[in-house]
Amino acid sequence: MIPAIKKSTDQAKWKRAEDLNLIDNEATGLIVQQSLKLQGQVAISGAKNAVLVIMASLILCDGKSILRNVPASTDVLHMISVLEFLGATVFFDMENHILQVDSSSINSYTVDMELMKKMRASVLVAGPLLVRFGRADIALPGGCSIGPRPIDFHLKNFARMGIEIKVEGDYVHAFAKKCVPTKIVLEYPSVGATENILMTATLTKGKTIIVNASLEPEVIDLIAVLKKMGAHIHIENPATIEIEGVSSLKPIDHTVMMDRLEVGGLLLASAITGGNIYLPEAQANHLEVFLEKLTEMGHSITCEMPRGIRLKATLSPKAVSFRTAPFPGFPTDLQAPMIAALALAEGDSIVHETVFENRFLHIRELQKMGAQIEVNGDRARIRGVERLYGTSVIASDIRASCALVLAGLAAQGSTTIIGIHHWRRGYENLENKLKALGAKISLKTSN
Ligand code: EPZ
Repeated sequence: MIPAIKKSTDQAKWKRAEDLNLIDNEATGLIVQQSLKLQGQVAISGAKNAVLVIMASLILCDGKSILRNVPASTDVLHMISVLEFLGATVFFDMENHILQVDSSSINSYTVDMELMKKMRASVLVAGPLLVRFGRADIALPGGCSIGPRPIDFHLKNFARMGIEIKVEGDYVHAFAKKCVPTKIVLEYPSVGATENILMTATLTKGKTIIVNASLEPEVIDLIAVLKKMGAHIHIENPATIEIEGVSSLKPIDHTVMMDRLEVGGLLLASAITGGNIYLPEAQANHLEVFLEKLTEMGHSITCEMPRGIRLKATLSPKAVSFRTAPFPGFPTDLQAPMIAALALAEGDSIVHETVFENRFLHIRELQKMGAQIEVNGDRARIRGVERLYGTSVIASDIRASCALVLAGLAAQGSTTIIGIHHWRRGYENLENKLKALGAKISLKTSN
């Protein structure tokens, strides 16, 4: 049950993005001491990978929308800055996790290139801008540590919808004199491409069909928002989305889904420390394969319907193997944290990363802590060891930062993790939640 959010009538509490100083600027890292047997329960924040695209979707309508359960993370701040750059008026009551966006003042179809480069998810404003203005100027988002992350699926299928694409260097200029409804067949169920095409189709007259669409829970949350706005969307098996375009959409009030990736990280924190924690808001149906693998390791998982997951750890976890895959497969965003737990499991585990090309950068850092892991292309073999040892490590991306914090909780001694900006991008004060469960974590300041 989401805690009742009291309406904040005091406008002073509504802060504009530029007034927000979300991040303690002097913090450069996290210091994690060995912390065994985490106990207790904590609340779960809203899902980063749902709220970012839902914020972008507000460009499709005019008026004041309210989003609740919005995580106070730096990626949310970046998306607030993108919307403000486009002309929207945004207020964020961080304390109550409520975001108010008035999109009626949006007056630009050009996204600030620096902002685009900072956060790949900015590409998700392209579709909404195209159907709102008939134009969108965006920067190619560029790759990141986990892979080149092209947007060819987005651009190729925009062209199928009658959108003219001009790539000039790092920039993409898109023109949509008139979007046409069509059948889109995705060669891969790309989350972002599905979301961009879906949003474009909601205001494209006629029927658009997306075959081999991504149906991740975060995409389903976006569909719930678009339907609230008045879009006509129907999901057919297998993985087909049918959209009947409408002439306009209206602002909404929506509570963002819980972050299943934060749930996964917290359950693994209990698993790796021999703990026993309960997450009352967690939804098991978002993580079935992941939970199955934890059970195979020997952990005791209790799931309540519709929400509530408890993990009581086994003290002799067994090795398990898995491959990452689009939903409902094992989430690629839980691969790194899971490898941290497998580093201390008995036996050999094989992990096959099928979604991103370079998503094993955390392994080098785990090896520094004593993990026995061999990487061979898109596969990693993890040979469980008795113990890990704290040392200084570097986080290369959001989910690697989670893996290193988990390893630090189990390792003997103290682990210093540099790269707190990754942690802040993907999680809202997750260190405080872990501390509430008994973890010994502190911020490393620059001085
Ligand atoms: C979303 O990224 C998530 N980000 C990612 O979370 C998540 O890992 C990923 O989906 C897969 O679940 C957000 O929602 C903001 P994709 P996205 O398009 O949309 C290739 C995190 O840590 N591809 O499904 O970029 C791509 O390179 C982040 O929270 C193309 O080749 O994922 C990748 O190998 C990381 N061409 C694969 O498809 C394209 O045009 C999956 O990408 C698009 C994607």
